[in-house]
Amino acid sequence: MIYLDNASTSWPKPPEVAAEMTRFLNEDGANPGRASHRMALAASDMLRAVRLKLTRLFDADAPERTILCFNGTDALNIAIKGVLREGDHVVTTQLEHNAVLRPLQAMADRGFIEVTWLPMNADGYVDPDGITRALRPSTRLVAVTHASNVTGLIQPVEAIGQIVRAHDALFLVDAAQTAGVLDISIPVMHIDLLAVPGHKSLLGPTGTGALCVGDRVDPRPWREGGTGGDSSTLTQPTQYPYVLEAGTPNAVGFAGLGAALDVLNPPGTLAHERRLLARLVDGLGELDGGRIMGDPEVSRRVGTISLCFSTMRPDEVGAALDRSFDIAVRAGLHCAPLTHKALGTFPDGTLRVAPGRYTTAEEIDRLIEALREIVGA
Ligand SMILES: Cc1ncc(COP(=O)(O)O)c(C=O)c1O
Repeated sequence: MIYLDNASTSWPKPPEVAAEMTRFLNEDGANPGRASHRMALAASDMLRAVRLKLTRLFDADAPERTILCFNGTDALNIAIKGVLREGDHVVTTQLEHNAVLRPLQAMADRGFIEVTWLPMNADGYVDPDGITRALRPSTRLVAVTHASNVTGLIQPVEAIGQIVRAHDALFLVDAAQTAGVLDISIPVMHIDLLAVPGHKSLLGPTGTGALCVGDRVDPRPWREGGTGGDSSTLTQPTQYPYVLEAGTPNAVGFAGLGAALDVLNPPGTLAHERRLLARLVDGLGELDGGRIMGDPEVSRRVGTISLCFSTMRPDEVGAALDRSFDIAVRAGLHCAPLTHKALGTFPDGTLRVAPGRYTTAEEIDRLIEALREIVGA
C-alpha cells in the first residue's frame, strides 16, 4: 500500500520502535512505579527517560511537568477541563480539531464558559490581531492549533503567544500536526500548555501523547486514581507528574515512543515532505478541476495538503484510490467541521494527502497518475 495518511498517524514507524516495544514487553514489562522490584524500576526509568526527551525537544524546563497521556485528545482534555473555571471566556479558532471543539462546546452548552470562535482568513490563517480584538478581562484561555490538520498551513503561534502573555491569559497550543517536524520552543512561543500526540510526526505508536504544563498553571485532575506512589490518602496526590497521570500508563507504547525520539530528524523530515508536496502540486497542475484548499504555498505548511475536484466527491476519489490503486488517503471532514465550513467544503470535505518520512517521490508520481485516471486529465 502507498500510505499517504500520515496526518492521522504516521506509518510505517522507524524499525527501532517495534524492536524496543518487543524488548520492553519481554524484558521489563512490569507496571511502572507500582512496586520496587527490578522490572518495575526499569519500567519507571524508561518513562522518566521519555519524559526527559520530550521536555528537551520542546525546550520545557521541568520534566516532571511533562505529563504522559494516551493521545492528543487526552492531552487536550486534561488541559481544557483542568484549567477552566465557571464564568471563564475562551478564545479559539475555526481551525481546531474536534479534540478542542467538542470539550469547549460541551462546557459552553452547560453555560459553564463562553467561547469566541475566531475565523480564518481566505488563505487559511488565523490573524493575531483577531486574537487581540477577541480578548476580554474574563479570557482565561486561548487555544490554537499550530497547523491545521485539514490544510497543513502553519499558524502564527509565536505572535499569538506574545499577545496572550501580555494579556496574562493562558496559551494552549495543539501541536498534533507539528510536533516532530517543526521547532517548538515553549518559552519562545509563550506556551503554557502544549498538547502533542506521540503517534504522528513524533513517530511513536498509537496510544501515546503528552501535555507539557508550564509553571503559570496547575490543571485540576479530572481522572483520579492510583499513581503507584503514596497510596495512603483518599485524595489525588498533588505532586507532578502523578497528579495528572492516574492509572497504569501505556508503558509499551512509551517504550516505542522513546526509541522513536532517538531517531527523530525534524528538519530533514519537513524538507523531505515539502519536496514531495511540491512534486504533487506540480503534477496536479495538469489536472482539470483540481484545487488546493487555502494558500497553495508549500513552504508555509507541514506535509499535509487538501484537494477538491470539480467532477467528483472526495470520498469517491478516496475510495477509487484505495480500491483500484492501493493508495491510502483520507477523504471527508477530518474531525474539523468548522474548518470545512470556512473553506466551503462542508459536508463533503476534501481529499487530504499527507506524505511522511518514508514516502518516496515514486509514490507521489503513482498518486498523480492515479488521480489523472480517476478524475481525468
Ligand atoms: C490538530 C489535531 N488535534 C488533535 C488531534 C487528536 O489527536 P489524537 O488522534 O492523538 O487524539 C488530531 C488528530 O488528528 C489533530 O490533527
